[in-house]
Amino acid sequence: MTGSLDGKVAFISGTGGGIGRAGAIRFAAAGASVVGCDADVSSAAQTQALVTAAGGTMVTVAPVDLGDYGDCRRWIEEGLAAYGRIDILWNNASSGVFATIESMTPSDWERSIRNELTLVFLATKAAWSQLATDGGLIMNTASVAAHGGSVAGIAHSATKWGVRGMTHVMAAEGAPLGIRAVSISPGVIETPGSSAQLAQPGVTEALMARSLVPRLGQPDDVAAFAAFLASDDASFATGADFRVDGGLINR
Ligand SMILES: NC(=O)c1ccc[n+]([C@@H]2O[C@H](COP(=O)([O-])OP(=O)(O)OC[C@H]3O[C@@H](n4cnc5c(N)ncnc54)[C@H](O)[C@@H]3O)[C@@H](O)[C@H]2O)c1
Repeated sequence: MTGSLDGKVAFISGTGGGIGRAGAIRFAAAGASVVGCDADVSSAAQTQALVTAAGGTMVTVAPVDLGDYGDCRRWIEEGLAAYGRIDILWNNASSGVFATIESMTPSDWERSIRNELTLVFLATKAAWSQLATDGGLIMNTASVAAHGGSVAGIAHSATKWGVRGMTHVMAAEGAPLGIRAVSISPGVIETPGSSAQLAQPGVTEALMARSLVPRLGQPDDVAAFAAFLASDDASFATGADFRVDGGLINR
């Protein structure tokens, strides 16, 4: 059986987390060789074990701090040493601070910008020349927060609107080089990253009331869509954002 990503090399950041893990499993099952990375060594190693146990091909570079350009370069260089090319760079990792304007400190703000916005630029910059050589795709994870804004999302919305904006620039500058760029905007997905928010009383019920699809999103909802975007079937798509949000912001 042939997979939709056979022969492709996919760099996925944040493979220790919910969506990154599902992405690594889904992409490897579709035939890609995956280069994962994460700040968290243990969860990244668990993902690697799941992929290889299922017969997939994957290497992991961890720990890396993608807010540091040297670490971004190390991730890219070690992945290239393993598989030699970059067909897909999925900038999935991020970690933000959720707080109201009144309670967010300037250092929380700086931390969010670094770990939700700057890391996308730095990893892309580290991979750019190889992406141009290989005609690769950049996929950035934005959010429904990049289509609006809600309480305690001042930094998160700022960074995710920024990710969408950067995606347009990457598509424009990348086009003459054969690089495409798209972003994905997930809705509420059950992951380690969202568990604290979803555990707050009434939050899940309130979200369900707004969603057209009556359930919380699962990591594989995003991973499956990303695998399609990364396949040759999506080769006419660039400079666009795709919402995978159960219709959350339609209501
Ligand atoms: N879960 C949701 O509801 C949701 C909704 C919209 C968008 N998103 C976006 O989807 C992406 C994945 O989210 P998730 O819910 O799977 O999160 P998660 O917290 O489960 O996983 C994120 C992973 O990224 C890693 N990471 C964070 N900062 C890093 C850094 N500087 N260097 C290296 N690794 C780093 C973390 O260690 C973690 O393993 C994020 O971009 C997030 O903003 C998530």
